[in-house]
Amino acid sequence: MTIVPSNPGNPGGFKQAGPKAERARPPAGAARAGRAEILSARESASDRKVEQSLRPLRLVEYIGQTRIKSMLEMSISAASARGEALDHVLFYGPPGLGKTTLAHVIANEMGSRIHMTTGPGLERPRDIIGLVHQLEAGDVLFIDEIHRLSRVAEELLYPAIEDFVIDLTSGKGQATRTMRLPLPRFTLIGATTRAGMISNALRDRFGFVCRLEFYDNQELSCIVRRTASILGVDIDDSGVEIIAARGRGTPRIANRLVRLVRDFAQYKGRARVDAAVASEALDTYQVDASGLDHTDRRLLEILIDSYGGGPVGIDTLAATIGEDSDTVEDVYEPFLIQRGFIQRTPRGRVATPGAYRHLKRQAPSLQLNLDMLQDQAEGGEP
Ligand code: ADE
Repeated sequence: MTIVPSNPGNPGGFKQAGPKAERARPPAGAARAGRAEILSARESASDRKVEQSLRPLRLVEYIGQTRIKSMLEMSISAASARGEALDHVLFYGPPGLGKTTLAHVIANEMGSRIHMTTGPGLERPRDIIGLVHQLEAGDVLFIDEIHRLSRVAEELLYPAIEDFVIDLTSGKGQATRTMRLPLPRFTLIGATTRAGMISNALRDRFGFVCRLEFYDNQELSCIVRRTASILGVDIDDSGVEIIAARGRGTPRIANRLVRLVRDFAQYKGRARVDAAVASEALDTYQVDASGLDHTDRRLLEILIDSYGGGPVGIDTLAATIGEDSDTVEDVYEPFLIQRGFIQRTPRGRVATPGAYRHLKRQAPSLQLNLDMLQDQAEGGEP
């Protein structure tokens, strides 16, 4: 696989991480280390470098997402046998679950080059034209944050995806001319955390639409063990379990925790990471036994203590913790919902009995439970 940067100044047009994204150093200031540095599923600049070395290259090395893997295995093998490009693929799901990694794995398995870009990086028609111009037969074109493509870019892409042609327009008004140019057959891989923001017209053009799920503890343990081995961290099973249990079902976070625990162990002069070292390290970073950090707990506390357990609108909740609503919806909330700490209802977010138990608060009243059941029966918020 060859990676072809689509923009030499900023390969792939990826957002540059700001200074907040620097990795924390234990133990000085460890308790103050921000969420963006530890438990955010968003990719920081330091993650990007390390993740490249940790990324599985082939499907056999890829842990978890079993259903998607077996489907890809069959389709890649069939497409390769026919000498054709793989059908277009859309990956969606919370950040950090492996959408980019799977795109690289597909390119490797197909023996193809991969061109990396983002939705916002393809703002003008000439961005798209320049990009598709570089494509060769069988290449993979990876568009991250594909839900952020402009309308113009999306419409230029339709014939490129569907019929492998691109319409070039020149002139203005009555002198406008359109020229249709053929393109080699390529595979578009789109990735998004926001499937709901993709138009039906775009979604329908993907042959495979795959939702990535959170990883269970066993899968995350395998990933932690693999990462520790690549990084040369001596860790026993009890240490692996602690890190996996606090990794929020997200490889990017689990891998970051491995690095934090490694740094902590080194600072403390502990040669081997066991349960005690891992727990002490993660306690220092305020990552609790369920993988919740300071911000998660604040979110639940506000919901329970300030709003009687909800329902509270997402905008109100986000404003109270000083985040924007998109960040709460994309980054924080999916895990809290998946672990059963909050629920979405038509009237807003509601704390579950599990959230009360986790924060050691008195259980909600019978009436609140009944309200929640009623809301659920009416269908959750989209
Ligand atoms: N590193 C990050 N994600 C991984 C995965 N799914 N399998 C193996 N290693 C990984």
